[in-house]
Amino acid sequence: MKYPSKIKIVDVGPRDGLQNEKAPVPAAVKIELVHRLQDAGLTEIEVTSFVSPKWVPQMADAAEVMAGITRKPGVRYSVLTPNMKGFEAAVLSKPDEIVVFAAASEAFSQRNINCSISESIERFRPVAEAARANNIYVRGAISCAVGCPYEGEIAPERVAMVARLLREIGVQHIGVADTIGVGTPVKVERAMEAALQHYGVDDISGHFHDTYGQALGNTLASLQMGIWQYDTSSAGLGGCPYAKGATGNVATEDVVYMLQGMGIETGIDLDKLIDAGKFISDFLERKPNSRAATALLNKRAG
Ligand code: HMG
Ligand code: MG
Repeated sequence: MKYPSKIKIVDVGPRDGLQNEKAPVPAAVKIELVHRLQDAGLTEIEVTSFVSPKWVPQMADAAEVMAGITRKPGVRYSVLTPNMKGFEAAVLSKPDEIVVFAAASEAFSQRNINCSISESIERFRPVAEAARANNIYVRGAISCAVGCPYEGEIAPERVAMVARLLREIGVQHIGVADTIGVGTPVKVERAMEAALQHYGVDDISGHFHDTYGQALGNTLASLQMGIWQYDTSSAGLGGCPYAKGATGNVATEDVVYMLQGMGIETGIDLDKLIDAGKFISDFLERKPNSRAATALLNKRAG
């Protein structure tokens, strides 16, 4: 079996991770998390979302968080922008990349962004154009790529359709997202194959929530297909407020541990990464949701 020799990990903990927290997390804590992640060697960080504060109150401090980060050379900072209003606010904070987020499920699109899939594409079109005119890289997420909390199983054809629509409006990279973590390796392979009909292997990433404990398996299955970019979340934080019951993304610590064990270069210092996850978990008064972090913290303590 041949695996990719290098991997890009986007830590989405500050965004996907913290968006779901009920109690407010101060901007200073979010900024400190970003700083700790970049000190641990993360070179891609999804920082925040420029979304409606009525929909996601936790992300209301997006501009403050972006302004508070001490940028490290070589690190790229991305933010979510669902519409032009979000983009216009985001552009002032100079992100390297923006993320538009579509869904392969009509019901989820309605619940998450209050419009149909085709309406969402029309909203994203000017966002993608404006971003590219400003030299900002455009990524797209395809939520519910294998399953939806409202529609159940999602056919790969839906993923191919949304990938095609995103391609047509100039989205440069797509993330195949298992929003509710119901996917298993063969289903994820099919979703990836659907995405590959419209994007090259270098322009697709995996975004796997770990609700059913399948995210590492899904990552491995995708690696075997040559997919080398993944969104992961420090301490396994997170979930989507509009996908009830879904837990966080696969923990960055678990993915880094697996890749290190496979001899695949990540450039990430696992010890420092564990400290970053411990920092935010301590703030949230819970244990890191990562098996590797738990094991290594126990080892340290022992
Ligand atoms: P809407 O209510 O249909 O929007 O929401 P609207 O255009 O009718 O505007 C209503 C109000 O919101 C207005 O304010 C707008 O100004 C304001 P008012 O006049 O009532 O005071 N507004 C905004 N404010 C700030 N920033 C904006 C913005 N847009 C409008 N960008 C909307 C539509 C898309 C805005 C809303 O549904 C929304 O914000 N949704 C975001 C939901 C969200 O963030 N979900 C989580 C992220 S996606 C995710 O986690 C999945 C992912 O991880 C992949 C995966 O796992 O699947 C990426
Ligand atoms: Mg997500």
